Amino acid sequence: MKTKLTQMLGIEYPILCGGMYGLSDAKLVSSISNAGGLGFIASGHMTDTEMLRKEIKRTRTLTDKPFGVNISLLKESKNDLSRNFIDVVIEEKIPVVETAGNDPSELIGRLKSGGVKVLHKVVTARHAIKAVEAGADAIILVGYSAGGHPGMEEVCLFVNLPETIASVKVPVIAAGGIATGKGMASVMMMGADGVLMGSAFAVTEESLFHRKIKERIVDSRSTDTAVVFKTIRNAFRCLKNDLTKEILEKERQQATPEELLKYLKGFDAKKSYLEGDIENIFIPIGQVIGLINDIPTCKVLIDRIVSEYNEIVT
Ligand SMILES: Cc1cc2nc3c(=O)[nH]c(=O)nc-3n(C[C@H](O)[C@H](O)[C@H](O)COP(=O)(O)O)c2cc1C
Repeated sequence: MKTKLTQMLGIEYPILCGGMYGLSDAKLVSSISNAGGLGFIASGHMTDTEMLRKEIKRTRTLTDKPFGVNISLLKESKNDLSRNFIDVVIEEKIPVVETAGNDPSELIGRLKSGGVKVLHKVVTARHAIKAVEAGADAIILVGYSAGGHPGMEEVCLFVNLPETIASVKVPVIAAGGIATGKGMASVMMMGADGVLMGSAFAVTEESLFHRKIKERIVDSRSTDTAVVFKTIRNAFRCLKNDLTKEILEKERQQATPEELLKYLKGFDAKKSYLEGDIENIFIPIGQVIGLINDIPTCKVLIDRIVSEYNEIVT
């Protein structure tokens, strides 16, 4: 299964796992890379550079395959920390970074001069063009059904993927709504160079989501997610639960940004995911939960996707 992406990254299959806040740790990332895909360590919850360095070293004890780091670019002062993370990535000779969030133009140059490949995650062709002009090596194009932050544009992958592929000359990786070989085959037919999944890997044995959360997701349908925080232009797709119902109600009542941001303050993703209280925490997940019917290991998931893909395309 050779594509420009597998060649660029030196991996067996063009199947990536996007960085997932609180979940993408050494165990999950190394399992994905060992199975022939590529995982990104999430840095969004990290408060200092040593946390990142430690996780990179821990991952190296579990795999000798390539893996990357996800760096979220925010508007606020947190960007200073992102810059420091970039120094760690370069010092540790990480081959590839997934950037997400704001305009990466300023940081791409630094990463590239440090020998790091940059895959920038966007939700529109317009942002893809801008990132490529700034030097991104590949684009991760996310459709609106994705878990986490699917953007404000509400365009589904079936439309924004071909639009983006026609707009840029670098490899485009499809994300948002993929969990099966059929899904992968369809986006590859449209011209994608690979796929990136989050939700499907969040429901593997190696993910630190509590078993009760994974079982709830397996029992859910594609209609069981909710997008909160649209009124503060920070769309966030999570599993529907008491918390998302309460927030949507507040948004209907035109709650102020301060009232809404209170819900995010102090949210400790990792702690909440381990405790397994399903109703009162944010559980970022995509509409693709309608296609997730079991809790495989990362290897079983990747092997299954590859064999289903091969059955269709060969
Ligand atoms: C639990 C969870 C946490 C996520 N956290 C992040 C994050 O910290 N940074 C980021 O860039 N994307 C994050 N995402 C988005 C994923 O990296 C990926 O783009 C998305 O899950 C792809 O769509 P899918 O969920 O339909 O597979 C998260 C997704 C999930 C499900």
